[in-house]
Amino acid sequence: MFKKTILSALVVLGLGTSQIVAAPVGEVEDINFSFEGPFGTFDEPQLQRGLQVFTESCAACHGLNLVAYRNLGDYGGPRLSPEQVKAYAAQFEVFDIEIDDYRPAIPPDMFAGSTMENAPDLSLMAKARKAFSGPNGLVIIPLVKGFGGAEYIAAVLKGYTGEEKEEAGSILYGNTAFPGGWIAMAPPLFDEMVEFEPASDNSTAAMAKDVAAFLMWTAEPKMMERKKAGLVAVLFLTFLAVMLYLTNKKIWAKAKRKDHA
Ligand code: HEC
Repeated sequence: MFKKTILSALVVLGLGTSQIVAAPVGEVEDINFSFEGPFGTFDEPQLQRGLQVFTESCAACHGLNLVAYRNLGDYGGPRLSPEQVKAYAAQFEVFDIEIDDYRPAIPPDMFAGSTMENAPDLSLMAKARKAFSGPNGLVIIPLVKGFGGAEYIAAVLKGYTGEEKEEAGSILYGNTAFPGGWIAMAPPLFDEMVEFEPASDNSTAAMAKDVAAFLMWTAEPKMMERKKAGLVAVLFLTFLAVMLYLTNKKIWAKAKRKDHA
């Protein structure tokens, strides 16, 4: 009976081996991102490079419509200066319903949405694909292997096999990370595609990592504040626990002395 209960618990948790084998797990390798761990922080220059990769490649198809241009200047983000944010926004046009016409974008405007119908918006993709490869969407594999959505995105960008096939009138590209092995996104990166200023590694793998970090920031822009608040809470609770212990000792000290007398 007990054995049976444990067995069914394991199956429910997705630990039954047959379930793991059956899941369409793509190949995703772990990357040590600067933002991992309880003290991890985003790396500003990396987010700036990722923004550039996004702008010069991904934005041709994908939107980022939950992010405002002004967020690029936020603490914990790419930290562009106010002038840089203005200049960045001004490269784009937005439709303004008040004037019923297009005008150059300003910092409070949002990034554009996807321009290609089947290309998903990338604002929250890094969180949406967290635990992507877990059996039946459970968080188990990332716990064991330690990877999340950013690793998955980098793996998709690096995972092209070079094979192509046509299916129902559209071209699919062989990809080792995308579940099923075939993705409708043409390889968006190639070596030295982007010129970084200051110069930095612009191999496909490095650009994939930078843009994945950038998309982790768009999905969780307040990560650094959240971790800081958590640390303060832990320190405060530790302090409180010590104070309560000492207070408790002091209050009962007389009673204890009486007991011994
Ligand atoms: C030429 C258009 C195009 C470009 C450029 C492009 N993508 Fe895509 N992307 C697509 C399409 C189409 C899909 C949907 C693929 C599918 O569902 O098979 C997609 C899907 C994705 C997915 C989702 C995979 C999933 O798990 O559903 C991610 C992540 C992604 N793209 C990231 C990027 C990044 C990062 C860049 C820039 C480096 C980029 N894309 C550039 C067209 C594009």
